[in-house]
Amino acid sequence: MRAKIFADRAFPIGEIDPRLYGSFIEHLGRAVYGGIYEPGHPTADEEGFRKDVLDLVKKLGVPIVRYPGGNFVSGYRWEDGTGDKSKRPRRAELAWNSIETNQVGIDEFQSWAKKADSQVMMAVNLGTGTPREAGDLVEYCNFPGGTELSDRRRKNGFEKPFGIRTWCLGNEMDGPWQIGHKTAEEYGRAACEAAKIMKLADPSIEVIACGSSHSGMPTFGTWEMEVLDRCYEQVDYLSLHSYYGNRSNDTAEYLGCCRDMDEFIRSVEAICDAVKAVKRSDKTMYLSFDEWNVWFHSNDADKQIAPWQVAPPLLEDIYTFEDALVVGCLLITLLKHADRVKIACLAQLVNVIAPIMTETGGRAWAQTIFWPFLQASAHARGRAMLTRVDCPSYQAGKYGEMPAVEAIAVENGGELTVLAVNRSLEEDAELEPDLRGWGNMTLLEHSQLYCEDLKAVNTAADPERVKPEAGDGKTLRRHSWNLLRYRFDQ
Ligand code: AHR
Repeated sequence: MRAKIFADRAFPIGEIDPRLYGSFIEHLGRAVYGGIYEPGHPTADEEGFRKDVLDLVKKLGVPIVRYPGGNFVSGYRWEDGTGDKSKRPRRAELAWNSIETNQVGIDEFQSWAKKADSQVMMAVNLGTGTPREAGDLVEYCNFPGGTELSDRRRKNGFEKPFGIRTWCLGNEMDGPWQIGHKTAEEYGRAACEAAKIMKLADPSIEVIACGSSHSGMPTFGTWEMEVLDRCYEQVDYLSLHSYYGNRSNDTAEYLGCCRDMDEFIRSVEAICDAVKAVKRSDKTMYLSFDEWNVWFHSNDADKQIAPWQVAPPLLEDIYTFEDALVVGCLLITLLKHADRVKIACLAQLVNVIAPIMTETGGRAWAQTIFWPFLQASAHARGRAMLTRVDCPSYQAGKYGEMPAVEAIAVENGGELTVLAVNRSLEEDAELEPDLRGWGNMTLLEHSQLYCEDLKAVNTAADPERVKPEAGDGKTLRRHSWNLLRYRFDQ
């Protein structure tokens, strides 16, 4: 088949916020303990952070990391994770039935993020926590000094304020599973007051209100409307979360799941704009897709894990090659909405539904999904361009008829990057780029992620089974992810 990819320099979608390539570390499973932090590990630095993991995180290129949860944050007392480590409490962590030792907290995570060349995106507890406690945390982190809380930070070894700019007002507050679950009315009021107090403590911060946990929630739509009705002027972003999985082992359908993400984003945009109109507001609400990924492989295994362990191996999805194709399609979808989606977090980063895996005490390696994320983060920065693909379509089960090829072009300095997934399980696509307005194009690189076996995985023993290789610049192989980089002369 042929795949003609059209983009025209006159038709940009918008600037890509670097935070679109964010990720997420929650106090869950082995994300923190045995993941980013493991004193005694052969690669551990003086603070106990694993350098092998830091190297992989830096390679991935993650400009912002959401922390400390997730469901965890809704029962978290942030003071537990500050000050003398020997005095920190061990607690029953109720969101994931684990034991939390608090050996890593806000201070250590800030230090880790610096080492990872990343910013912290901090979530406050609006489940069991109060707006005042949320304001206290902003003061502890960002106030220069001369108050009890900011001086406490200085005493803990951090003279300079952390300068955390992006803050989440709780997590998935619409979900009955959430500790301190609230109705839309209750949450909308709490978010409004928390945002006010937090911005009084530091007017330079931006805050994200919780949207629905996913688009299948019975309250989806009304939740967004009612929450925004109460806090539209106080908040800067609304969150979206979504996870996908090949539960019925139907690859053709699974590869189409980015249509669900696309429709979810369009619906939330429409709701935000409806509230804006009703309020006669000048302000546009931006979106933070702060949890997205594939999550299903570990669901059954997790039911067998005994409660009340420190760092149990929860949510350890081992990703297949086809999962990497789905992650590629989801990245392309986020980029297609770069005008509105300013923040997105691949959930999560290490061990827990993550691109990076570790053995506690042993090796660290890149899962299959690491590669499309790395290539997009490295090369799809700048201006997302409206991109059309002329190619045959296929039946993607419940998602309906979809084009075989999904693609986006991004202008990045003097280069044009094309990201493309050929979803056809049978046919290679002959690539015909029709890229207008950039003058002469010279192909700099064609890298592709391809494997005969859709279920191939990377493991500690075989970490490079699925990894990018050079393409011929002309062919999008059947079921493949592709990065094409062109230099232009105009
Ligand atoms: O990322 C894992 C969990 O998924 C998070 O804790 C929660 O916010 C979501 O339901």
